[in-house]
Amino acid sequence: MNDFAIIAAYYDELYVKPEQYKIEAAKAMALIETYKLSGGNELLDLACGTGGHITYWHDHYCVTGLDISPEMLSYAIRKFPDVKFHRGDMVDFTINQKFDALVCLYGSIGFIRTLENLKKTLITFAAHMNPGGVLCLTPWSTQEEFKPKIVVDAVKHPNVRIARMENVKLKAPGLIVVDFHHLIGRDGVVTYNTQSIEIGLFSRQQYIDAIAGAKLELMEYYQGSDIPMGVFVARKSLQAKRS
Ligand SMILES: C[S@@+](CC[C@H](N)C(=O)[O-])C[C@H]1O[C@@H](n2cnc3c(N)ncnc32)[C@H](O)[C@@H]1O
Repeated sequence: MNDFAIIAAYYDELYVKPEQYKIEAAKAMALIETYKLSGGNELLDLACGTGGHITYWHDHYCVTGLDISPEMLSYAIRKFPDVKFHRGDMVDFTINQKFDALVCLYGSIGFIRTLENLKKTLITFAAHMNPGGVLCLTPWSTQEEFKPKIVVDAVKHPNVRIARMENVKLKAPGLIVVDFHHLIGRDGVVTYNTQSIEIGLFSRQQYIDAIAGAKLELMEYYQGSDIPMGVFVARKSLQAKRS
């Protein structure tokens, strides 16, 4: 079972805040358009989940989505029947297509867990970029910024109410564990979901080295308020071979 198999059923209600997603999607688009030198318009949303950002890119790009979780993808497919979705692992997927923009937001990169996987993932990303194409990559948190915390929150929608506590702590050097405790009230029944998910915690330099190791050029490390987790923006050289 993948980490999001159960969470998928209430992911949108709990995590997708439309105002925030709209701002993030617009900022990612602005960064792409600032640096993109390839002529095309193909965008790949990596670890797209239920497609929360796709709503805002759909009219501007030809969007493709990739995620490891069939449950998360099933919600994305229902929302965007005209978008191509692939089930795959970002570490080593193969799609027989190159893209002008790659985006990996909301810290999804952390789910690949190890530094070895981070290096492989960046090489996989680069292999799917056209020369002059741009990658926007949001770290889950960097080692420099990480602070353990207990998150507490509740949301109320017409058909579902959710209360959550999440205990975010360091498990080992370079590895976080998040203990999720979610109470989900729907159709007169309250269910409890608890699970622990491990997330890789990499330093700023490790991200920068993985980007360089994939022969991508770091253009900017955006740290403004539009995307609070930050964004590494990298470009594939125009001289890079199309292979
Ligand atoms: C926090 S969610 C973010 C989803 C979406 N990008 C968003 O902003 O709402 C993380 C997503 O990463 C996906 N994921 C985790 N590990 C993955 C992997 N190795 N390859 C592809 N997707 C992965 C999960 O299935 C989940 O949909």
